[in-house]
Amino acid sequence: MNADMLAARLAADRARVDACLEALFETRQAPAPRLEAAMRHGVLVGGKRLRPVLVYAAGRALGAADEALDAPAAALELIHAYSLVHDDLPAMDDDDLRRGQPTVHRAYDEATAILAGDALQALAFEVLAGTAHPRLPAMVAALARAAGRDGMVAGQVLDLAAVGGHPDVAALATMHGHKTGALIRAAVRLGGLVAVAEDDPRLAALEGYAAAIGLAFQVHDDVLDVTGDTATLGKASGADAARDKPTYPTLLGLEGARAKARELVEEGVAALAPLGASAAPLAELARYMIERDH
Ligand code: IPE
Ligand code: IPE
Ligand code: MG
Ligand code: MG
Ligand code: MG
Repeated sequence: MNADMLAARLAADRARVDACLEALFETRQAPAPRLEAAMRHGVLVGGKRLRPVLVYAAGRALGAADEALDAPAAALELIHAYSLVHDDLPAMDDDDLRRGQPTVHRAYDEATAILAGDALQALAFEVLAGTAHPRLPAMVAALARAAGRDGMVAGQVLDLAAVGGHPDVAALATMHGHKTGALIRAAVRLGGLVAVAEDDPRLAALEGYAAAIGLAFQVHDDVLDVTGDTATLGKASGADAARDKPTYPTLLGLEGARAKARELVEEGVAALAPLGASAAPLAELARYMIERDH
């Protein structure tokens, strides 16, 4: 597949999940309009929608229909958006810019941003639970685990604890695997679960893929923090160094980090072998993840 075809498919999948997300905010008499506006700001404005794109690609690789993938795709983006709203808070990364806009606590206020994040997380599970699927309990459990104390939230705690420290590569991989990898693995797993049962060996192949590219994704995020500019990134570049965060570039150097990301992507692509040609879009996405400029 050439770059134009990949771009077209990314755009189509983004439009698809955006329609689902926008529908959640239309024709509603919201009890708290300011909360509603802050939630919209957090989830509807900007964003690459890579986790939904992964839900669609993983599900299609195993034969799922797009309609059945919409709710998991939207749920993943809602959890991700919540994680970003909280990640940017003064108590965490204290960032002013996200997706080219003021962060939610800047555009509104801190309490509203905390509550908007809370409500986005709850909405994710409401959306997912609204689908009638025989494996819904497995999907809810996988998403909850990825979001919480064994996943993203644990990773965020490790990230904050690591500020100013000197973790080794294994500790950094654990931190990244939780804070970012967990939701990427969940995106791929939920897409797969829409199509096949929990004991299907193809899910194990997808898991190998997701574990590798989830880490590669955060390694590249660390690289972009060094090499990207604020306008392109839509968030402040140099923020990790400013906060004395240990990252792959600080541990391995820029070229070392880039090489690590490439190695992980090839490991992820190799894990797709049992899926054959249907997994080609997943391989393309893996490469895109570490070639993107924002
Ligand atoms: C940013 O994620 C936060 C990380 C986990 C590195 P993305 O780079 O996917 O951010 P958006 O959704 O496109 O804004
Ligand atoms: C964020 O990691 C991971 C999340 C769970 C949101 P970062 O703190 O590196 O993400 P950015 O760089 O602010 O997007
Ligand atoms: Mg952070
Ligand atoms: Mg951050
Ligand atoms: Mg970052």
